Amino acid sequence: MRAFIMPVGCKSSGELRLVERADPRPGHGQVVVRIRAASLNYRDQSIVAGRYFGGTPDHDMTPLSDAAGEIIAVGEGTGRFKPGDRVAATFSQIPPSGPRSAPPVPLGSPLDGVLAEQVVLYEDGLVAVPPDYSFEEAACLPCAGVTAWNALMVAGRQLVPGDTVLVLGTGGVSMFALQFAIAAGARVIATSSSDEKLARLVALGASDGINYKRTPDWEKEVLRLTGGRGADCVVEVGGAGTLARSFQSLATGGKVALIGVLTGPGGDTNPQPLMRKRASLHGIFVGDRAMFEQMLVAIKVTRIKPIVDRVFAFEESVAAFAYQASGAFIGKVVIRL
Ligand SMILES: NC(=O)c1ccc[n+]([C@@H]2O[C@H](COP(=O)([O-])OP(=O)(O)OC[C@H]3O[C@@H](n4cnc5c(N)ncnc54)[C@H](OP(=O)(O)O)[C@@H]3O)[C@@H](O)[C@H]2O)c1
Repeated sequence: MRAFIMPVGCKSSGELRLVERADPRPGHGQVVVRIRAASLNYRDQSIVAGRYFGGTPDHDMTPLSDAAGEIIAVGEGTGRFKPGDRVAATFSQIPPSGPRSAPPVPLGSPLDGVLAEQVVLYEDGLVAVPPDYSFEEAACLPCAGVTAWNALMVAGRQLVPGDTVLVLGTGGVSMFALQFAIAAGARVIATSSSDEKLARLVALGASDGINYKRTPDWEKEVLRLTGGRGADCVVEVGGAGTLARSFQSLATGGKVALIGVLTGPGGDTNPQPLMRKRASLHGIFVGDRAMFEQMLVAIKVTRIKPIVDRVFAFEESVAAFAYQASGAFIGKVVIRL
């Protein structure tokens, strides 16, 4: 089978190499998944550039955390799935080389990722894919979908109809948050660097769009648009560079779901407005299988489909990384295998 690898010391997606590997065999409690689609997250750009927590890879590593495919072999001690079942992998997995009792860690770093024709995983780290979802759509769910679900529906105060949700930018997490929030009866205010993208978000149901380049003090615009009240939930993907404005954007009793680092490490993170607003700040790290399955129930009822901007062929994976890094997309960039 074929797999892409990030070679030892990899510092750019241009260094990704397509290699031939032995077909994996399932151990006890494990299955082999024939990967049919994988999606990219911002995190994957940091990993391939050697900027993620662990630095550059110390061995040849397969990139990407998010994938969907079909089971082609099952090991002893399995029972949740059978060959032919359509599945998606959870973001964190029990290391396939370790015991079933080992703590789960993320795919794509430190675990080998999913940009490969076949991967072996413990069956506990899989969910069934909705029947009306293509593999390309299902591959968008594990990180971006579950993170947005956790931010809105699990962490802290749960979203209720009539709430206002602020989403920052038009990437994978923010677009899932927009869709889940609208389906839950919330008003969504969105920011973007692009008026064209904002027009698309309004067509998708956002009540208002704010261009954060032209309106750098966008927190004032959020307050104006809400009659001074503010947002009940901010889906905070910017990090240190946007956090202070997110605090200012909040309604009394609102929450900030702290997710991302798009603006880098520097910025104003003074938490004082949280006190005055009796607000809360919740750190998010994707979510577990239970959250994934809860999200799938909601997806079945609401018929939400991920926003897939563009699909690349497996052989075009380097171009897929470059396109995602360009920021020219909304939602998700997918690779078909
Ligand atoms: N903690 C977790 O569990 C978790 C899970 C998933 C992702 N994340 C993090 O969340 C962030 C988003 O991830 P993603 O995969 O959704 O990203 P993505 O799909 O790559 O989205 C990137 C988009 O973010 C927007 N953006 C960039 N700079 C911005 C800024 N200063 N203010 C507002 N928006 C900005 C841009 O949208 P426009 O072009 O519209 O301006 C850009 O296209 C990343 O930092 C990622 O590491 C964390």
